[in-house]
Amino acid sequence: MPLRHLVRTTAIGILIALAGCAAVPAGAPSPAGTAPTAFSPAPPSTPAQSSAPPSTTSPSGPAPQPTATGSSRPGTDAPTPKPRDRRTSAQRNRAFTVDGIPVVSKQHPINAGYRRSSISSPYGLTRETQRALTRMIAAARAGGVRLRVRSGYRSYALQAQILSSKIREYGSETLARRYNAAPGRSEHQTGLAVDLWDGVTWGVGVRNTRAGRWLWANAWRYGFILRYPAGKETITGYAFEPWHYRYLGTGPARAFGPNSYRTLEEYLGLAPA
Ligand code: DAL
Ligand code: ZN
Repeated sequence: MPLRHLVRTTAIGILIALAGCAAVPAGAPSPAGTAPTAFSPAPPSTPAQSSAPPSTTSPSGPAPQPTATGSSRPGTDAPTPKPRDRRTSAQRNRAFTVDGIPVVSKQHPINAGYRRSSISSPYGLTRETQRALTRMIAAARAGGVRLRVRSGYRSYALQAQILSSKIREYGSETLARRYNAAPGRSEHQTGLAVDLWDGVTWGVGVRNTRAGRWLWANAWRYGFILRYPAGKETITGYAFEPWHYRYLGTGPARAFGPNSYRTLEEYLGLAPA
């Protein structure tokens, strides 16, 4: 095999292996292979930077986002009409947004044509997300807590490979889909989401690490929220992922605060009634 193909194939394999969604909850059927579980042994010692995305083309700048109608004041109890996603399938190169906040989920997919509003190195996050992440990692370090990036931006194509790989690994499509988004359904494609850990403990056990506890208590200060809290799978569509943080900006994230179980869907009035 030509060297460049070997390098590319190996890089994709590492990205899939590192993709933050390989964890299985305690009590779940134990997937075959080396799926990390709670309190699993240390994962491969690949540097966090290896989860950087493949090189990308420059975006043509932020695309105008279709805005949902019907939403008024997220986070209040005032009865307001549920925001409706009125995009046609051809318009899914843009995210559904509510009050300017892009929402990507099982219910609100994007397509392969989605372009991030900006791109930064080394994880492919939007520039604003990366700036906030850098501040957050520095603050954690100042408090003696080590945060490592396990996964940042992931393309539509990479997400498809990850899901297929996890279905094979777990031997259960249902289980794999609780932790791994289908292509177009992953926030990682927006460059607004990042998987974080301490570089040692992966899986739901992240929750009980110093890194996991610090993040849950403090990430909101830097504009990040825990996107898939425990016990909210019927709302978010995904099982508890103590590692997956979504950048919203400090204004909206303040409404979540420390140790929050609130979901983005609840905040934006999108949760099922
Ligand atoms: N683990 C989350 C759901 C993702 O694959 O985007
Ligand atoms: Zn994630």
